[in-house]
Amino acid sequence: MATDSNRFQAIISHCKEYGFIFPSSEIYDGLGAVYDYGQWGSELKKNIKDYWWKSMVQLHENIVGIDAAIFMHPTTWKASGHVDNFSDPMIDNKDSKKRYRVDHLIEGKAEELEQQGHQDQSEIILKEMDTLLAENDFDGIKKLIENNKIICSVSGTANWTDVRQFNLMFSTEFGAVSSDEEDNKIYLRPETAQGIFVNFLNVQKSGRMKIPFGIAQIGKAFRNEIVARQFIFRMREFEQMEMQFFVRPGTQMQWYEHWKAQRMQWHLSLGIPASKYRFHDHVKLAHYADAACDIEYDFPIGFKEVEGIHSRTDFDLKKHQEFSRKKIQYFDNDLDESGKPYGNYIPYVVETSIGVDRTVMMVLSEAYEEQDLSTEEKKDSRVVLKIPVHLAPIKLAILPLVKKDGLPEIARSLMNDCKPVFNCFYEEKDTIGKRYRRMDALGTPFCVTIDHQTKEDNMVTIRYRDTMQQQRIPLDQVKNIVKEAMDV
Ligand code: GAP
Repeated sequence: MATDSNRFQAIISHCKEYGFIFPSSEIYDGLGAVYDYGQWGSELKKNIKDYWWKSMVQLHENIVGIDAAIFMHPTTWKASGHVDNFSDPMIDNKDSKKRYRVDHLIEGKAEELEQQGHQDQSEIILKEMDTLLAENDFDGIKKLIENNKIICSVSGTANWTDVRQFNLMFSTEFGAVSSDEEDNKIYLRPETAQGIFVNFLNVQKSGRMKIPFGIAQIGKAFRNEIVARQFIFRMREFEQMEMQFFVRPGTQMQWYEHWKAQRMQWHLSLGIPASKYRFHDHVKLAHYADAACDIEYDFPIGFKEVEGIHSRTDFDLKKHQEFSRKKIQYFDNDLDESGKPYGNYIPYVVETSIGVDRTVMMVLSEAYEEQDLSTEEKKDSRVVLKIPVHLAPIKLAILPLVKKDGLPEIARSLMNDCKPVFNCFYEEKDTIGKRYRRMDALGTPFCVTIDHQTKEDNMVTIRYRDTMQQQRIPLDQVKNIVKEAMDV
């Protein structure tokens, strides 16, 4: 049985063994902080994206979705501030040559202190770090690291360089021109949001959108993360689900609170209890924000950010207007309190930004259970993924008891009836017990067994993943039972 401390490793191994997530290009020993989704991981990921899209776009008449390109004009990133500001303070250990993000280094120390029972000291060091980072006091940060005797885990020394900023964007060249030319340098987008901002007018005008309205997008983002050792929590290539909500200036705080509540509601709708979530208000605001918080989930590695909610002011649209020299404004013909139209303005933006991969990790962390099923007579156990039905990669496993006597034919006919509606899995190998266990490990909520009796009475055995209870039901009810359970 996995203890709390090795639960995370157990989940990573499970993901690999059962076709959810593999290290990228593993035959070449993998690529740091890059992962591939396998046959079941990609189904889970797709279901999460579909669920987000449905709740954000389909269910909101004033939110539309787009799919912008990953490559964007390089000026985008100058305007957005990413060229100058999208960097993290880092420190190098002179002996091991290993580079660390200072906040991760200090958080690591704080965690160590907490584990040793020094809760007070842990809180003090974190508070001090927040203050120093908010003031960009890099000398102070270095002193904090030295005073707390933080050492490099590789060299074991505290021989540190000064703290410096490193940009996190990946760059590449565009077209067939020499790579030395700065002008041809383009970036892999570090957030999907800018694809929304540069299309604000296109969408607003072509869709005749009226403020307040939102534009949503799901897509890849890239960051050259320096410390990337927490499985799919911190990747160099990852996916975001973002929504920019455009509002009248002055109303942004009201919308910020609205989206905080809405997004928390979405998280709770995944069946995860409220006690596993918390809000974390930002002390050091990003260069574009006037308020920001994270929704954190209690991962096996502790409470960590899954989603960010940011009130981004009019920073981005204003900057794109300035750099593109194109007017990016909205004419609001609603009347203000004095009876005059609000007129032209640059909208303010409230953003919700959630990582797809972190959501996958959250769902898997919540779902993973190792159960001891031993009785006095025999030892037994199972690993089960209690994934919500609508997110589960496979909804229904169809299992003929034996490979003969006409049972596969009945099973195949059920498969053909159900597979256009939801994902099914057909399996006739191994004992039924082994097949059930395998489906538990993949998070399949329903298994249906076709046996000899089925030929007589058209009844099948349905087995429920979470309770392991079994029930005889009419064959022709199977599809509806699964369909109803998928409804959210
Ligand atoms: N547009 C705002 C933005 O990008 P962020 O807080 O930097 O804000 C939003 O990122 C979300 O993207 C995070 O809450 C996280 O879920 C996800 N994310 C960010 N960096 C990530 C990384 N390196 N690997 C995996 N997910 C990441």
